[in-house]
Amino acid sequence: MKISLFDVGYEYSKDTPFSSRALEHVDMVFKEGRFYAIIGHTGSGKSTIIQHLNALLQPTEGHLDILGTLVTERTKKKELREIRKRVGVVFQFAEQQLFEETVLKDMIFGPMNFGIPQKEAEARARELMQQLGLDESLLERSPFELSGGQMRRVAIIGVLAAEPDFIVLDEPTAGLDPKGQKELMAFFKDLQQKTTQTIILVTHQMEQAAVTDEIYVMYKGTNVYHGTPQQVFSKDLSKYGIYPPKIVELQRRIEQKHGFQFDELAMTPEAFKEMYMDWGTLYVR
Ligand SMILES: Nc1ncnc2c1ncn2[C@@H]1O[C@H](COP(=O)(O)OP(=O)(O)OP(=O)(O)O)[C@@H](O)[C@H]1O
Ligand SMILES: [Mg+2]
Repeated sequence: MKISLFDVGYEYSKDTPFSSRALEHVDMVFKEGRFYAIIGHTGSGKSTIIQHLNALLQPTEGHLDILGTLVTERTKKKELREIRKRVGVVFQFAEQQLFEETVLKDMIFGPMNFGIPQKEAEARARELMQQLGLDESLLERSPFELSGGQMRRVAIIGVLAAEPDFIVLDEPTAGLDPKGQKELMAFFKDLQQKTTQTIILVTHQMEQAAVTDEIYVMYKGTNVYHGTPQQVFSKDLSKYGIYPPKIVELQRRIEQKHGFQFDELAMTPEAFKEMYMDWGTLYVR
């Protein structure tokens, strides 16, 4: 079960005087159960790709294979309904799409729309609330009375409660405080490890990309590099506006200062600490 993009191109407002090209020759594969990041400069096409993954946009060139369904410019909308159910997308600033009278109604709207019985949708929403640290007393409140961070979580639950096979997240932590960002990332990582769900995360934060399995780098509408965080952040990708997480830069500086090379660069401060402790016992004694 996977989503593949084959030489995908996309032009907004095609065949009008306002047409503008957003994607060109994009090839990507997203496999079941893995955690992906898509990174790249602002305007590089990340959100445009995301809208292709659940066929909200259809490519103006090339094609996609979305869980076995072929999607081209000409695919009929009614063939795409099942895809929407199986590929859940949390858009940038998802809280702007809340609209129901109560938090509960908002969270179960999507799942019920996909045919999940109300009781089941409610049970899933309640469980997710607990996992995301939202109190059940919020259920009957208006979503518009909540804090920004709470609203974001409600919007995310509205997508996750449908239990899509693929979860696509467009900058889900943008604008949240550091604690909220950390909690949300820990939740996604945990979810991805516990289930067979695939997560595709668009982010501007390299620390977040560093904990995924694979990264796609976008530049000016096309994917210019793909690899593990180790591969991506060991390369000089500054020409694409990509700079590694701070912990990687620190290791580079240690290497320069002491004239040696780490066998493998640690991608997170925790991994570095572990590595450094081993290294310390080996060489410092
Ligand atoms: N609705 C639209 N109509 C016309 N052009 C658009 C539209 N949305 C995006 N674009 C253009 O398509 C290109 C890719 O935009 P996109 O939003 O996919 O980039 P992005 O990588 O998500 O950027 P950001 O990091 O700022 O969110 C940009 O040049 C952008 O101006
Ligand atoms: Mg975007």
